[in-house]
Amino acid sequence: MLVPRFQLLLSLTGIGSGLHTSIPGTCKSYPGTPSWPSAATWAALNQTLDGRLLQPPPPGAVCHPGQPTYNASQCANVTEEWKTYDFHAANPISVMWDKFDNFTCLPEQNTTCSPAGYPAYVVNASCAEHVKIGIDFARKYNIRLNVKNTGHDYLGRSNSPGSLSIWTHHLNKITYNEGQFKLQGSGKVISGNSFTVGGGSQMYDIYAAADKHNQTIVGGGAKSVGVGGYITGGGHSILAPRHGLAADNVWEMEIVTPGGDILTVNEDRHPDLFWAMRGGGGSTFGIITSATLKSYPSPKVTGVTIMIITDPKESFVFDLITYIVSQMPSLMKQGFSGYNIITKDMEIPIQEPGIPDRVAGFMGKCILQDVDDPEAVSKAFHPINETIQKRWPNRVQFYTTLEQYDSFLAWFDKNYDTNQAGGSLYLVSRLLDGEVLTGNTEALKNALQVGMSGSSRSMEAFMVGGKGVQEATPRGGSNAVNPAWRTAYVHALNGEPFGPFNKSEEQRAKEILEREFQPLRDLTPRGGAYINEAFPFEKDWQQTFWGSNYAKLLKIKRRVDPTDVFWCSPCVGNERWQVRQDGRLCKI
Ligand SMILES: *[C@@H]1O[C@H](CO)[C@@H](O)[C@H](O)[C@H]1NC(C)=O
Ligand SMILES: *[C@@H]1O[C@H](CO)[C@@H](O)[C@H](O)[C@H]1NC(C)=O
Ligand SMILES: *[C@@H]1O[C@H](CO)[C@@H](O)[C@H](O)[C@H]1NC(C)=O
Ligand SMILES: *[C@@H]1O[C@H](CO)[C@@H](O)[C@H](O)[C@H]1NC(C)=O
Ligand SMILES: *[C@@H]1O[C@H](CO)[C@@H](O)[C@H](O)[C@H]1NC(C)=O
Ligand SMILES: *[C@@H]1O[C@H](CO)[C@@H](O)[C@H](O)[C@H]1NC(C)=O
Ligand SMILES: *[C@@H]1O[C@H](CO)[C@@H](O)[C@H](O)[C@H]1NC(C)=O
Ligand SMILES: *[C@@H]1O[C@H](CO)[C@@H](O)[C@H](O)[C@H]1NC(C)=O
Ligand SMILES: *[C@@H]1O[C@H](CO)[C@@H](O)[C@H](O)[C@H]1NC(C)=O
Repeated sequence: MLVPRFQLLLSLTGIGSGLHTSIPGTCKSYPGTPSWPSAATWAALNQTLDGRLLQPPPPGAVCHPGQPTYNASQCANVTEEWKTYDFHAANPISVMWDKFDNFTCLPEQNTTCSPAGYPAYVVNASCAEHVKIGIDFARKYNIRLNVKNTGHDYLGRSNSPGSLSIWTHHLNKITYNEGQFKLQGSGKVISGNSFTVGGGSQMYDIYAAADKHNQTIVGGGAKSVGVGGYITGGGHSILAPRHGLAADNVWEMEIVTPGGDILTVNEDRHPDLFWAMRGGGGSTFGIITSATLKSYPSPKVTGVTIMIITDPKESFVFDLITYIVSQMPSLMKQGFSGYNIITKDMEIPIQEPGIPDRVAGFMGKCILQDVDDPEAVSKAFHPINETIQKRWPNRVQFYTTLEQYDSFLAWFDKNYDTNQAGGSLYLVSRLLDGEVLTGNTEALKNALQVGMSGSSRSMEAFMVGGKGVQEATPRGGSNAVNPAWRTAYVHALNGEPFGPFNKSEEQRAKEILEREFQPLRDLTPRGGAYINEAFPFEKDWQQTFWGSNYAKLLKIKRRVDPTDVFWCSPCVGNERWQVRQDGRLCKI
């Protein structure tokens, strides 16, 4: 008992968090250890929650004879559904990529199954009060706290073993505020349209609700992206080049803090928390129970599929790719945004007569919004095509396909992210500004070449920065979004998959990603990366994900969460703890 009393004394004397958290070796309480609350204590929590405490079995357990939920027909179903985002989004503990459950219960009979990789208990929250009760319990009993909505997180921040998890999925009410919105506790009225959405809302539900009013919000490219993790990370969007990042479009939030306070935060009330919650990263400063997001008239969308391709064996492949990438700022200034892939060698996704099976070059899924000029696309691409035909006559094929959509939702319905869940991968990314894209061609070419040296032989080059992001005017003057976004045009990223139970393969994936993007890091020394699609093991992660905002974010974190009730990685202020080999979270 000496240690806790000593801690208490220090905090009473106001010596503060710096000292009392430096006692090494102290861990968060863990199932099966003496400090873990008794069954009766958990039952009492359940009662306080009106029976909303869950102890979910691992979702893969239906495939394992000997597990209480074993059921062969359900196993067949789960094995199939495991590949879908929706399955994991609807489950209280499942996340999209297997690595983040530590492979403890895959839906495969020939593997082992235990609940060890998952949260121990879950609060099925449907109001802010439930969230508060969960946070208060975790703080009081020193239990690792987890926050999960859909589990659509490439960095695995929505699962923690042996934790109490707050499942925000059912906080999903969506209301339209037409014409104006009055900030709570401030009296200020913001004019314009907005939606107030529950913290567990998913992109598709918001898009669909907004479309009923011919509106849209700045949102993500996959249906199952959850709003909380998305806006706390900044939130890039195909609409961002016009309207700014998702975080730039937040007017107000209701959050529950690590201290258990249910607060409305906006530019006039708790402005520093409002600032931090928009870009400072998820699961760090509090849990969003609702957010009010500015909306826009849904645009008429011209969908533009572009292919600029050549034979992978051509010697000029990287000259071609570098040239196209260098044209992205100019294309974006003409209104284009979109999701592109550049490749040195991949199978063509669309079979067309006259196109070889394997190609190198550029393939893009872009849009223009609200353009009247039917020639806008050909005008923009004509000079690019001319240059290409001049430099590499008859060696490059250049196709564009246009489709018109009456609304953003109509476009999204045909173009949302249809990738598979399940399996494991890590990502790496870098934000690219105008200088790196249009400056030293040789340096960029080299960086792109190294950047495609992994197993994908490709790289994604999303046109999601540009004017709207660079000139964004977030409420209150600023937010915690990585300043690197404010000069970026392109979010470049790559991934490396790895199989289960193979440490050396996982290690190899990390090394490839670390190495692949080093030239892009070197070319953007003051730049950074997008926290929600990133390499979780960036060496200089504080600078990479938050740049000059880090110091202020850390100060806010220490003030609102002096005892680290919230902890995740890579997340602001997590430096005092580490996950041990056995999965426990302990002070360093
Ligand atoms: C919580 O209580 C509900 C209703 O009484 C019960 O169905 C549920 O199993 C309990 N949860 C746990 C984890 O025991
Ligand atoms: C297995 O699951 C199916 C589908 O949910 C159900 O109909 C069946 O009764 C279950 N079998 C057993 C043995 O519980
Ligand atoms: C799995 O079961 C769910 C619920 O019964 C059903 O909606 C779904 O279509 C099934 N999926 C497959 C692949 O059989
Ligand atoms: C288990 O079986 C599946 C399907 O046959 C196979 O792909 C996988 O490699 C096996 N896993 C292990 C750990 O043996
Ligand atoms: C969670 O709560 C919602 C109501 O808010 C309920 O519909 C749902 O069935 C609950 N989920 C589980 C797994 O108990
Ligand atoms: C949305 O736009 C359509 C087509 O212009 C129009 O018919 C409809 O009334 C509009 N709906 C609302 C809610 O404004
Ligand atoms: C690009 O130029 C070539 C050669 O002039 C032409 O065949 C092709 O149709 C052009 N592509 C586009 C999309 O304009
Ligand atoms: C692990 O993966 C590597 C390839 O990355 C492979 O060579 C090796 O055989 C795998 N090891 C096991 C035990 O499967
Ligand atoms: C992951 O699982 C392995 C067993 O497969 C275990 O040894 C290890 O401690 C676990 N790691 C974490 C961080 O939970």
